[in-house]
Amino acid sequence: MNITIQEAKNYINQEVTIGAWLTNKRSSGKISFLQLRDGTGFMQGVVVKSEVDEETFNRAKEITQESSLYITGTITEDNRSDLGYEMQVKSFEVIHEAHDYPITPKNHGTEFLMDHRHLWLRSKKQHAVMKIRNEIIKATYEFFNQLSFTKIDPPILTASAPEGTSELFHTKYFDQDAFLSQSGQLYLEAAAMAYGRVFSFGPTFRAEKSKTRRHLIEFWMIEGEMAFCEHDVSLEIQEQYVSHVVKSVLENCQLELKALDRDTTKLEKVSSPFPRITYDDAIEFLKEEGFNDIEWGEDFGAPHETAIASHYDLPVFITNYPTKIKPFYMQPNPTNEDTVLCADLIAPEGYGEIIGGSERINDLDLLEQRIDEYQLDRESYNYYLDLRRYGSVPHSGFGLGLERTVAWIAGVEHVRETAPFPRLLNRLYP
Ligand code: 4AD
Ligand code: MG
Repeated sequence: MNITIQEAKNYINQEVTIGAWLTNKRSSGKISFLQLRDGTGFMQGVVVKSEVDEETFNRAKEITQESSLYITGTITEDNRSDLGYEMQVKSFEVIHEAHDYPITPKNHGTEFLMDHRHLWLRSKKQHAVMKIRNEIIKATYEFFNQLSFTKIDPPILTASAPEGTSELFHTKYFDQDAFLSQSGQLYLEAAAMAYGRVFSFGPTFRAEKSKTRRHLIEFWMIEGEMAFCEHDVSLEIQEQYVSHVVKSVLENCQLELKALDRDTTKLEKVSSPFPRITYDDAIEFLKEEGFNDIEWGEDFGAPHETAIASHYDLPVFITNYPTKIKPFYMQPNPTNEDTVLCADLIAPEGYGEIIGGSERINDLDLLEQRIDEYQLDRESYNYYLDLRRYGSVPHSGFGLGLERTVAWIAGVEHVRETAPFPRLLNRLYP
C-alpha cells in the first residue's frame, strides 16, 4: 500500500510504502534513524539491525541527503515526535542518489539560501510557511464565498495607475505603453456595480525601491469591494475576514506553527472587533511616546506603526489619514475635510500594515477634480468616471497583502520567506 506521511495516522501497525526524500540521518552500531519528508509531512524511519537483513542495514547507513526512496515498513505510534508516528523500516529502494546537496544541516547565510530558494523550499520551516500560506488562501476563498462575494479577476496588463504613478512597472503592449497592475481596485469598483460584492486575488507589482522586511516587488493581494457600503461596514468585514483567517490557521496548522516555534498566545486572542484609532490621535500618541520628529500630515514609517501596534494586543485600524498622503479616489471625511474615510490595518508584533482600505468618491465632479489635482490623465480614467455617471452609489473596499499576512501569522521575520520565489529589489533568480 502506497501512502503519504500525512495519511500515516490511519495505518497504525500496518505495513505501507512511502515515496520520500532523506533529509538527515543518524546511525549507531545497532540502529539508524532516517529523517524522511514526502511533501505532506516529516517522519522518522527507524532501521533496527536485528530486524532487517545485513545488506539493508548497511545500505541505510549510506543513504545520502536528499536521495529519493521508496521506503517500506510498519507505522507505529511515537509520542516523542510532533507527528506522533514513525516507521519501523523493513526495506527500501533508492530511486535517485543525490550527491553534495548544497544545503546541509549547518547554518547558511540568507543570500546563499535565497540563491538556492528552489532547494531551500524543501526544508521543514519553509515547508511550514508555505502550508500556512496555503491555509490562508483556502480560508480566504471560504470567507468570501460564505458571504456570497463573486470572484472577479482584474487584468494584470493595464493602462492606468490606481496607487500613484511613481511605483509602476512599465512594459510595452505592442506599440502602446502599459503597466503591470499595482492593484485591481479600479476594475473591482466597476465589477461591484455589476455584481454587488466582489473580491479578487492576484499578483500585483510595485516598482518600489524599498529594501525592507515588508516589501516585495511582486506580491499577492486579496481585494474586496462592496456596493452600497459605507466605510464602517467595510471595516467590520475586514476584521471578520482577518479573524477567520487566523482562526483557520490555528485550527489546521498546529504542526506548522510548532515547526516555526510560533508563540500563538497573541494569535489566539484575535477576534473582532479590532481597536480603531484616528490618525490625529495616533499623532498625539506618538508625540507622547517621544517621537518628536513626526508632524501632522506625514505618513507613518515602520517604527511609528510598530509603536502604535504594540499598544494593543489585536490588529489595530488607523483611520482618517490626511487627504494629501492618500490616493486620489478616497471619499472625504465629512467631519474633517482635510482627512479621508480610510483605514490601514496594522498587524501586532511589528509586522506593519497588512490592509489598506477606504470608501471611494462617488461624486463625479469631485472625482474629476481630484484626478486633475493629482495630475492624472482623465482620458485613461474615463471608464472609472462612468461608474459615477450611471447609478453611482456609496461603495468601499480594501486590499490585504498576502505575504505580510503570512509573515505575521507564521511569525516569520522577513516577507522574502513567505513567497515561494520572492521578487526583491536585488533578486530575480531563481
Ligand atoms: O495599501 P495598498 O497600496 O492599497 C491598495 O493597493 C488599494 N488599492 C487596495 C484597495 O483598497 N483595494 O496595498 C494594500 C496592501 C498593503 O496593506 C500591504 O499589505 C500590501 O498590500 N502591500 C505590499 N506587500 C508587500 N510588498 C509591497 N511592496 C506591498 N505594498 C503593499
Ligand atoms: Mg497602504
